[in-house]
Amino acid sequence: MLGLGTLTRVARELREDLTAAQDRDPAARGIGRLEILLTYGGVHALLAHRVAHALHEGGVPVVPHALASASRTVTGVEIHPAARIGRALLIDHGSGVVIGETAEIGDDVTLYQGVTLGGTGFARGKRHPTVEDEAVIGSGAKLLGPIRIGRGSKVGANSVVIHDVPPNATVVGNPGHPVRVDGKRPVGPDADWAHLPDPVADAIRSLSGRVAELEALLAEATGRKPPHSAEVRPLRRRGGSHPAGG
Ligand SMILES: CC(C)(COP(=O)(O)OP(=O)(O)OC[C@H]1O[C@@H](n2cnc3c(N)ncnc32)[C@H](O)[C@@H]1OP(=O)(O)O)[C@@H](O)C(=O)NCCC(=O)NCCS
Repeated sequence: MLGLGTLTRVARELREDLTAAQDRDPAARGIGRLEILLTYGGVHALLAHRVAHALHEGGVPVVPHALASASRTVTGVEIHPAARIGRALLIDHGSGVVIGETAEIGDDVTLYQGVTLGGTGFARGKRHPTVEDEAVIGSGAKLLGPIRIGRGSKVGANSVVIHDVPPNATVVGNPGHPVRVDGKRPVGPDADWAHLPDPVADAIRSLSGRVAELEALLAEATGRKPPHSAEVRPLRRRGGSHPAGG
């Protein structure tokens, strides 16, 4: 239940969150902890979440959600009270971050503005990502579904990640694909994420060809000129200089 222990825990978490901002935000190095506490939206959102989560775990009704909602209004960061967040998280710049109900975040993680740890549909149960210790998630990145972002991995700004990411990897793009694992470019046929077959485009091209053929036959039979049909062409070039080249 709630008590002095919970209060002490929240105070410790706040201290660690402030240290995370000082350590990892270059702009915070010259300013004091009080100034960070008073001016950093990400820190405010985390403090509200630490309290809301403690209340949620203590079985308090309504208040955790009300607190999360008020915090979202003020900071632009929405964190579900049930989300599990480890020590020393930095939400840099804050605004636009969404952390879903079953998301789990390890220790020393950094999230930039606009990050979503979201679900992919209406499924219940574990449906949000797990982000392991020391991961860095770039601004605007969308991490969707019950995927796991491995320890120490980096997700590039604006990536859309829907598959597990191994530890110490760098993932970029949409769909997010590894461009570095343990500092090396991934090689081999499975790494060619950018030039996968496109069965939908192939089907449309085949249908379009058949329609054109039928129109030609119809024109021949009736003497009526078929209307000009749109050209179907691939959206992207096939093949690339390097399998992980994107
Ligand atoms: C991904 C990131 C963390 C860099 O990680 P890294 O492991 O040092 O990777 P590198 O810089 O060596 O880049 C690896 C490859 O990914 C590409 N890349 C890097 N970031 C990318 C991104 N966001 N989108 C697409 N491609 C990206 C690089 O061009 C490079 O391509 P190459 O393999 O053809 O050379 C960084 O680019 C990034 O996006 N950080 C987010 C920072 C952020 O959100 N800041 C906001 C502050 S307000």
